[in-house]
Parts: sequence; structure tokens; C-alpha cells
Amino acid sequence: MTNFANWPTTYPDPSWFIHDRFGLFIHFGLFSVGARHEWFMTKEQIDPKEYQAKYFKNFNPDLFDATKWAQAAKDCGVKYMVFTTKHHEGFALWDSHLTDYKVTNTPFKRDFLAELLPAFRKVGIKIGLYHSLIDWHHPDFPIDGLHPMRNNETYQKSNELRQLKKYQDYLAGQVEELLTDYGKIDYIWFDFSYAHRDWGFAKGKGAFDWDSERLEALCLQLQPHILINDRLDLNRGVTTPEQFQPDKPFLKDGKPVLWEACQTMYGTWGYDRDNYEWKSSEMLLKMLIDTVAKNGNFLMNIGPNPRGEIDDKTALRLREIGDWMRLHQDAIIGCTKANYEAPLDCRYTQNANKLYLHLFSYPYRNLHLKGLAKDVSFIRLLNDGSEIFYRGFDKDEVITSTEAIIDPDDIVITLPVEKPPVLVPVIEITLKD
Ligand code: GLC
Repeated sequence: MTNFANWPTTYPDPSWFIHDRFGLFIHFGLFSVGARHEWFMTKEQIDPKEYQAKYFKNFNPDLFDATKWAQAAKDCGVKYMVFTTKHHEGFALWDSHLTDYKVTNTPFKRDFLAELLPAFRKVGIKIGLYHSLIDWHHPDFPIDGLHPMRNNETYQKSNELRQLKKYQDYLAGQVEELLTDYGKIDYIWFDFSYAHRDWGFAKGKGAFDWDSERLEALCLQLQPHILINDRLDLNRGVTTPEQFQPDKPFLKDGKPVLWEACQTMYGTWGYDRDNYEWKSSEMLLKMLIDTVAKNGNFLMNIGPNPRGEIDDKTALRLREIGDWMRLHQDAIIGCTKANYEAPLDCRYTQNANKLYLHLFSYPYRNLHLKGLAKDVSFIRLLNDGSEIFYRGFDKDEVITSTEAIIDPDDIVITLPVEKPPVLVPVIEITLKD
């Protein structure tokens, strides 16, 4: 197993995670009903009681069918999922015994999680649970500068009565329920710490406030194989860059870092009806490839609508990426960063003796590939398996001024003029053993 800078030896083996590479993030909750950013409760400074009266009372995803979500995920080619059990709004999507603010008390009545997880497991998708450390509904969660009631004096004063210990116990209690009552959980995704913030009347929250060491120990005790992300503020766990693509693989103290980019389809995480910042399938796919080329995982988000369906625009992207994955999954799953330098507008991924060249911008005819002269045994287009001719430097060849000279270490591949009919064409290069 690789030695990662952010992965203590006491943590379980993350091999499946590194192998699987592609996950689906699902943001779902009361905020889906508001349909305008999962943070609107605090952005609009809505009193938790008002929020409850409106959104809790009207939560009824009557068209929800777990098997449909699972099939859409499967067809898209993801290997694991991460679902929001509770977001910052504090609403529990399972039948928690520690609160009344839960899905089984809404008009929907059913235990959402109990339906969701088995459906995903059934199609072979591993299970991750997102759980918010922040809770804007709980009466003992101290009001801070992110809280919806941050500008309300009565609420600010209530901090004197709010008992952090009680909130910590609640947090640990709910995590215990999730990791005890819902079968094998492969990954837990806590969100998030902000200990560096200071608003004067309150400070940000981090490991001390969540009692993160206790949460971490609990997770490892209840689910010894579970992977944990980095947002407990303990300086370890999967690094989770959000909504940006790093320009190179992460390194810390010269050692590789286990990381996962999480990305939205349109800038926010929950269902956002009037959002017009949709990324195209091609852009999302390129982000996936770019991430794997840099040794990372890609967690792509969807936000189903309040009736429990995946909207058409999201479904289209899942399908188009799935069409590509059907033909090209070997160039993603099980792959890592390659040992070769990719040409301009291209990315490499590699799995043992298979090197995959992803053509982001389709070139005309010839492409020079550095450093491969001695290593190649066969080259083909991955989408249809058709052979691609290549040649290397030949000292006896008559060199004319009509084409670029081939460097002795390089090869030149000859591509069809017409771009193959896939979002991102991939050339599979089989290397000599
Ligand atoms: C965040 C946000 C959020 C989202 C998430 C995903 O920082 O608070 O709404 O759930 O992280 O990475």
C-alpha cells in the first residue's frame, strides 16, 4: 500500500477507494424544497422555527424510487456514492431516535436512508455518508457567524444557555445510529470545520467543538473498514478540495496525498431550480479525467428535486458521461497518474502496462508522444478498439522539410482526421512488459 502523507497507519486500507476513482455525491434535504442553494436558510437569515414550519411540514418526495437513483448512478459508471444524511439545516433523513426533526415525521413518513442504501448496494455501488458537523436547528449548537440567527440578539444571548457538551453527545449519538443501524458503511464524509474564523461575539468551530477525536474513534470502532475525510480538523483523512481543480497531484512533505475533488454540476449542491451555470457533460468528464490524471478521485454531485426525482438536465449529464464510461472505464477505474509527460491539450492515465491518452482537443492527424520510443507494443482507439499506426525516428528516412522531425525518444501516432464520435477520444497504448 502506498504511504500517504494524510493517511495514518491506524486508518484502514484505502485501496478500493483509490481503485474506484469515480463517486456520486447526492445532496438532498429540506433545502431541496426551497430549491435555491442548500445554504439559503442562513443566507436569508431564516429563523429555524420558520424554516421548520415551511419546509419540514412540506417535505414529501412522493416520486422517490431508490432503485431509479441507483440505476442512474450505475449507468453513469460511478463506483461509490456519498449521501447527505443531515446537512447544516439539521434535518435527519433517517429514523433517528435522538430527534423529532427527521424524515419519518414529515408527510413523507418513510425512512429515506433505509430505502436508499440497499438499492445502491444491490447494483454494486459502495456507500458513503455525508454528515454535517454544523447544525442550525439544534438548541445546543452555539450560535456563530455562519448561523442563520447570527444577527439576532436574543439568539446570540442564548449562547449562555447552549451546552456544547449536549450537542457533542447528540452528534456522536447520531453518528452511532448511522453506523450501527444501516449495514456496512464504506466512507464517512464529515462537513466541515472553520476553527480559524472569529466574529467577535463567537469563534469558528473545529476539532475541539465537535470532539472530533471521539467521532473518529467511534467510526473506526463501529465500522473498522470505514474511510474518513479530512473535515474533522484533525489534519488527516481524505483531502477534499471543493469546486476547484488542482494543477498538479497533491504532495505533502514530498509524499503523495490521498485526495478527492468534489464538484457540482452548477455551482451549488442542492436542487437549484433557477440556476443557469450548468457545466456541460464534456466539461464534467474532462474534470473527471483531469483528476485521475493527477492521482485523485472525483466525486460528482447531483441534487434531486423535492419530489424525489432526478431532473432532466442532471439525467442527461449522467447518461452522457455514462455513455463515455461504458466504452472508456478502463481509462479511469484502477488508473493513476502516468509516468509520461502528456502532449499539449491531453491527459494521461495509466493502469500497469496500459497507458491512456485522453485527447481534450482533437488534433489534426499527427501527434508526437514523448519518451515512448522503446516502450510501445500496440496502440488502438479505445472507443472502437481500432488499430492506430505509429512510427519512431528512422535515421535512414529521407527527411524533408514538410513535417516535424521525430525526436529519437518519441513516437508519432497517426489519427483519423474525423474525431471519433465520443466526448473525449482516448488512445490506449499497450506498453511492453
Ligand atoms: C460545503 C458546504 C456545502 C456542501 C459541501 C460539499 O463546504 O457547506 O453546502 O455540502 O461542503 O463539499
